[in-house]
Amino acid sequence: MSDASALGKRGETPTVPPSTLVIFGAMGDLAKRLLVPSIVNLCRDGLVGDDLRIIGVSYHDGDDDTLRANLDEFVAGSDAGKPCSDGGCWDGLKGRTTYHKGDFTQPATYEELATKIDGNVAFYLATAPQFFGTIVERLADAGVLDEAEGFRRVLIEKPFGHDLASAQALNSCILARVPESQIYRIDHFLGKETVQNILVSRFGNALFEAVWNNRYIDHVQITAAETVTVGARGKFYDATGALRDMLPNHLFQLLAMIGMEPPNSFDAEAIRNEKAKVLAAVRGPRPEDAAEHGVRGRYVAGTVGGKAVPDYRAEDQVAPDSRTETYAAVRLEVETWRWAGVPFYLRTGKALSARDTEIVVQFKPVPFALFRDTDVSQLPPNTLVLQVQPDEGISLNFLAKQPGQAVNAKEVSMDFRYADHFPLGHRTGYETLLYDVLVGDQTLFQRADMIEAGWAAMQPVLDAWNAGGEPEDYPAGSDGPDGARALLARDGRTWHAIG
Ligand code: BG6
Repeated sequence: MSDASALGKRGETPTVPPSTLVIFGAMGDLAKRLLVPSIVNLCRDGLVGDDLRIIGVSYHDGDDDTLRANLDEFVAGSDAGKPCSDGGCWDGLKGRTTYHKGDFTQPATYEELATKIDGNVAFYLATAPQFFGTIVERLADAGVLDEAEGFRRVLIEKPFGHDLASAQALNSCILARVPESQIYRIDHFLGKETVQNILVSRFGNALFEAVWNNRYIDHVQITAAETVTVGARGKFYDATGALRDMLPNHLFQLLAMIGMEPPNSFDAEAIRNEKAKVLAAVRGPRPEDAAEHGVRGRYVAGTVGGKAVPDYRAEDQVAPDSRTETYAAVRLEVETWRWAGVPFYLRTGKALSARDTEIVVQFKPVPFALFRDTDVSQLPPNTLVLQVQPDEGISLNFLAKQPGQAVNAKEVSMDFRYADHFPLGHRTGYETLLYDVLVGDQTLFQRADMIEAGWAAMQPVLDAWNAGGEPEDYPAGSDGPDGARALLARDGRTWHAIG
C-alpha cells in the first residue's frame, strides 16, 4: 500500500501492478461508457500495462465475444478508443477481457469466479445498489477477499444507502466481512481535476488560507445545476430525487474540500480524517426548521436550450402522481471555530437554464462606508468563484476605481481558466479513481463515517419531506423554484447567477 496520496505523489505515477479488474454489472452502461474507456486511457498513458485483465460478470446470457462486442461498440467509437486504434490499446485489452455469466445472489457464481482469479484483484460493483451487500458477503464467503496472495479491493458505486439508517446498515454488513482498508466507495466528483484542485488552491497558497474563515467569509454557495432532464433514468430517479442523488454525496464532498482544516500530511488517512471531521460538524436543519431550510422543486413543461421539455410527471417511468423533487436547496451550518456563523447554501436541479457546477465563496462587506458620499450606493462584495464545470477555472471578483474625477467603483475579475494553462484532454473522470484503487490510494474515496455524516445532516430534511407536501413547480429552463430565492432572501442574500 502506498503512503503518499494521489495529491502527494509529486508527479511520480508508477505503472499499476499486475492485476485483474472484475466488473460486476459488466453489460451495463457504466462499464462501457466510463470504466473500460478509462482503463484504455490509462493504458495509453502507460499507467496500466499488458498485465491487467478484465473479467466482466453479469447475469446476461453470453460469452467473451458478447462482452467484447458490447464494449467494442462504445469504446472503439469513443474518445478513449480513437487515439488507441493506432497504439492498439483497446485491441490489446480486448484480448484480455473475458466474461463470467452468473447470478449475483448465487454462491456458485463466486465459487466459479474464484477459480479464474489469482494475485491482485479489484472488484468493481457497477450494479444496482440492492446487490452491494450481497456481493460483498458472497465474495467473502468464497474466500476471495483474503489478501494472502495479493491485494483484494472492493469498489462500490453510489448510491450508498437511501437514508441514514440504510447507509449504516450497508456499512455494517460490508464491514462485518471486509476491513475499511479494502473498501473504495466511489464519488465520481472526486475524480474531477477541478475538485482535486480545491485542496491545492487552498493549501498551496497562503493568500486564500489567510482569509478562509468566519472573520472574512460571509457565506458559501455550492451549486450543481444541470440542463439535462431525467431522460431514460425515470425509474431510478423517481425513487431517488434530487437531494439523495446529489447532496449527501457530491455536494457534501465539495463542502468538505472547502471546509476542512489543513491536513498534517498528504497521507490518505490524514486527508480523510480532516474531511470526516468537517462533515461530522455539518448541522442540517433542526427538525422544526427542516421544512423552511430545505426547498424542493419539480420541473414542469418549458424549454431548455431551445428544446421543449415535458412536465417531470409526464416523463417515461415517472409516476403521474410522483412527489419526487428534481430540485433541492438547503441551508446548512458548519459548527467549527472556523465556520461558526457562516451559512453554506447548497442547491442542485435538473432541467435548469444552464449547466453550472461551482462554489462561490462570498466575502464580508468592507467594514465602514468609505464610499458613502460617492455615486456608489451598493458595493458588491468580493467573491471567489471556483468553477468545477464547464469552463473549469477560478475567478476572483473585486472592486476597481473607474477612471475619472469621481470615485466610482466597478466590479472586475481576475480569471484563471484551466484550459489556458493545462491540456485537460478527453477524460472520463474515472481514470484517477481506477488508477488509485489499483495502486492502493484511498484519498479520493469515501469512508464509512463520511457517508453517514452526509446522510445524518440531510435526514431531518428527508423526514420533513416524507411527512407530506409537494415540491414547488418551476418551469424547465428557469433557475429553479421561487422558494430557493426566498431561502436566501430571508437571510438578506441572493444566489449567484446560474451559467
Ligand atoms: C450522478 C447523478 O451521480 O451525477 C446524476 O446520479 C447526475 O443524476 C450526475 O447527472 C452529475 O455528474 P456530472 O459529472 O455530469 O456533473
